[in-house]
Amino acid sequence: MKKAIVTGGNGFIGSNLVKFLLDKNFFVINIDKNKYSNGNYLLKDRKGKNYKFFKLDINSSKIFNILKKYKPEVIFNLAAETHVDRSIESPKDFIHSNINGVFNILEQLRKFKKKNKKNIRLVHISTDEVYGDIKKDKSSTEKNAYMPSSPYSASKASADHLIKSYVRTYKLDSVISNCCNNFGPGQYPEKLIPTLIFNILNNNPLPIYGRGKNSREWIFVDDHCSAIFRIYKKGKTGESYNIGTNNNITNLNLTKILLKVIKNKKIKIGKRVKIKFVKDRPGHDFRYALNSKKIRNTLKWKPKKNFKSGLEETFDWYLINYKFFNYFSKKNFFKRLGLKT
Ligand SMILES: NC(=O)c1ccc[n+]([C@@H]2O[C@H](COP(=O)([O-])OP(=O)(O)OC[C@H]3O[C@@H](n4cnc5c(N)ncnc54)[C@H](O)[C@@H]3O)[C@@H](O)[C@H]2O)c1
Repeated sequence: MKKAIVTGGNGFIGSNLVKFLLDKNFFVINIDKNKYSNGNYLLKDRKGKNYKFFKLDINSSKIFNILKKYKPEVIFNLAAETHVDRSIESPKDFIHSNINGVFNILEQLRKFKKKNKKNIRLVHISTDEVYGDIKKDKSSTEKNAYMPSSPYSASKASADHLIKSYVRTYKLDSVISNCCNNFGPGQYPEKLIPTLIFNILNNNPLPIYGRGKNSREWIFVDDHCSAIFRIYKKGKTGESYNIGTNNNITNLNLTKILLKVIKNKKIKIGKRVKIKFVKDRPGHDFRYALNSKKIRNTLKWKPKKNFKSGLEETFDWYLINYKFFNYFSKKNFFKRLGLKT
């Protein structure tokens, strides 16, 4: 049985990836420091002999002991601070997890390679945000220069550079994925789609930054997991792969589509549920757009999920798992962050 480490496995994408790998018959070792109070909610049913959880920071030297004990084929690194507004409010945590944490993983892998003559593949999950604002009708390829705008995207960009230097200098085996915005079951309530769903279910106004014209490319989380897996299997060491759908939507249109999807389910929408424009995020990138021809042509991957059916599935999940929202303190998750610069 192949073994895989997933860091950040209690997070949104990580928990979906853990399930994906278990379905593929992997032994999965989840390393997460449980930053949020949701604990293991997303993986509460995952017990048994093919799954092991370590509550641990990726900055810990104990990572080496785990590598030594399990000798995994691969580490999927998803552990990160991920909320842009939070990175504006308190960047230090982002340096700790997204740069120093990756540095520690690289060092432990280097030590492991030296002692065991075995190169464990590191699949590092980066983001489209490293490319910065992309002009209308343009898209970023893997060759674009990095132009990060927020402490979050700058921390992710730094890690990507560090990883490439370790591949070149120490001959580590690593590949990087740069994915667009994810949505799906289990996303933390501080992100756009769960925030909208929470407010719709609670008859609250829907806060939209600026005039809602900022546009993002969206992918359903299962499609992201299948792309990451393909990159692990077939990706060339030292390379980056954009993961995108070409499905670019403004925040305003996304909100309207979501409202339509919910109305079609015959769910009653309260009178106070109205779009409310709120102060924009400082340094807010206007548009991200990925050229994902490389992964499509060389690794033969493409996304499967249609946007609307993905939104339906996501909404249904939050309806059934409404108590997921209760795991997060209102003070931390529904308070507007990152306005003071
Ligand atoms: N969500 C998106 O739209 C998106 C898009 C592209 C890339 N990504 C990347 O995918 C990864 C996962 O994103 P997500 O949306 O699932 O994030 P998330 O915030 O839902 O989950 C991150 C997890 O990492 C854990 N974590 C944070 N710092 C840690 C540390 N120092 N040690 C151990 N665990 C730590 C947290 O406890 C949390 O469970 C991130 O690296 C993110 O940059 C996300």
